[in-house]
Amino acid sequence: MDIRALQPSDIPHVQLANITNLPENYFCKYYLYHALSWPQLSYVAVDLSRSSGEPGEPPKIVGYVLAKMEEEPADGVQHGHITSLSVMRTHRRLGLAEKLMRQSQKAMVEAFGAKYVSLHVRVSNKAALHLYRDTLQFKVNKVEGRYYADGENAYSMRKDLTFLEEAESESEHDVGEKAEDVDIDGDVPKGEKKKRKSGMKKFKLGRALGVADLQEVDGRAA
Ligand SMILES: CC(C)(COP(=O)(O)OP(=O)(O)OC[C@H]1O[C@@H](n2cnc3c(N)ncnc32)[C@H](O)[C@@H]1OP(=O)(O)O)[C@@H](O)C(=O)NCCC(=O)NCCS
Repeated sequence: MDIRALQPSDIPHVQLANITNLPENYFCKYYLYHALSWPQLSYVAVDLSRSSGEPGEPPKIVGYVLAKMEEEPADGVQHGHITSLSVMRTHRRLGLAEKLMRQSQKAMVEAFGAKYVSLHVRVSNKAALHLYRDTLQFKVNKVEGRYYADGENAYSMRKDLTFLEEAESESEHDVGEKAEDVDIDGDVPKGEKKKRKSGMKKFKLGRALGVADLQEVDGRAA
């Protein structure tokens, strides 16, 4: 299974997954708006085992997270927002949604300095609530009455991301000293990372290779 950034050519497949899994659907241009405005924030899960390797074969997209930055935050605080998340039934309970979410949250901090991430979820959506509240430690900010078109209420949820900023600045001190561990877990807290890292191989990645020098600073080419 491969988790990679959403590309514009993925949009019809993501749209199909969205229509299959959720009643909240969007026009193609809304996906494109996400992919072009914040290309770092949306990800897809691709099942490589279902690929024949034929040139031109469409990717087998089995999950996605569509995310953005809030353009005019009412509270004046820079933050990200999860527009939509879903995983095909055949591929649920494999940890894909958790991975997609963590990748997006990490990119919100690294690319846009997000202080927190927000989302809405149906009060009846047990699977999503377990993922957000128990696995990812989102907190309920408020209940929004009749938020959905069918009249159901939504939990407006938030997760603080400032701990990721701290982790990032700590790792910046290590630049050039040693290869960074491959971080497939996105924003997994430190203690948990230690457990997961036993047995992992080390590779040079990102900053250790000088990739940070190629990123834009404050919207200008560095
Ligand atoms: C919600 C959804 C995205 C979860 O995707 P997933 O890939 O199966 O989730 P993960 O495998 O990453 O599981 C994350 C956690 O949620 C738990 N979970 C997943 N499905 C669950 C379910 N049906 N009931 C209870 N817990 C569930 C997992 O056990 C795991 O918990 P753990 O960290 O304690 O082990 C998926 O069920 C889905 O696409 N649902 C339909 C669309 C939807 O509701 N999207 C969210 C809209 S806000």
